Amino acid sequence: MSIDNHASNQLRCAVLISGTGRTLKNLLDYKSSGRLNNVCFPLVISSSSTAAGLQYAQLCNADAHVVERKGYESDEAFSDAIYKLIEQSQCNFIVMAGFMRKLIIRPEWENRVTNIHPSLIPSFCGHGFYGKKVHQAAINYGVKVSGCTVHFVTNQVDDGPIILQKTVPVYSDDDADTLAARVLEMEFQALPEALELISAGRVTVDGRKTIINSGN
Ligand code: GRF
Repeated sequence: MSIDNHASNQLRCAVLISGTGRTLKNLLDYKSSGRLNNVCFPLVISSSSTAAGLQYAQLCNADAHVVERKGYESDEAFSDAIYKLIEQSQCNFIVMAGFMRKLIIRPEWENRVTNIHPSLIPSFCGHGFYGKKVHQAAINYGVKVSGCTVHFVTNQVDDGPIILQKTVPVYSDDDADTLAARVLEMEFQALPEALELISAGRVTVDGRKTIINSGN
């Protein structure tokens, strides 16, 4: 059965971060250059009080909060604290942007949470595949192509329906840093593109697949 999960309406996004916030900054840059018209970012939640990405929340006047996993006894309690902030700010969508903690996906948030992963899922993903480790694994394996994946988040790591993927070549003299930089350039296109599609009501989820409907 096909589930039309998004009507064409504004996405009020809670952005979840843990680190440098390059993904968040890119979204804000897109927004301020007149794109992402149907998307706004009123709330940023960081899982770390020292995340450099928090500075961008201040720049765009988003409501910024720190919710650290160590302050809670379980993933459930940690997730509850995050959902409470999200509900208070009346967000209807969650964007994981370099978020390194587990958020339990409640049934009502199914297909309303995205993540971006710096490989072509199902390669080089899952537990232990984060940061440079992803790119080093791709290089060690000898793949000729890598890339990034934007997907809906489920309660399994890096496992939800794929919205879009973008590829980059892997060169014989690449190291994890050069490959990461090339993939990041694609990430900077892929996530805004995915949010545009979702906010235009063009993404339908059918089982573990998504269907991108034509804009006509
Ligand atoms: C990127 O590699 C992205 O794929 C992953 O987090 C990294 C970006 O983190 N999800 P940040 O936005 O710089 O904090």
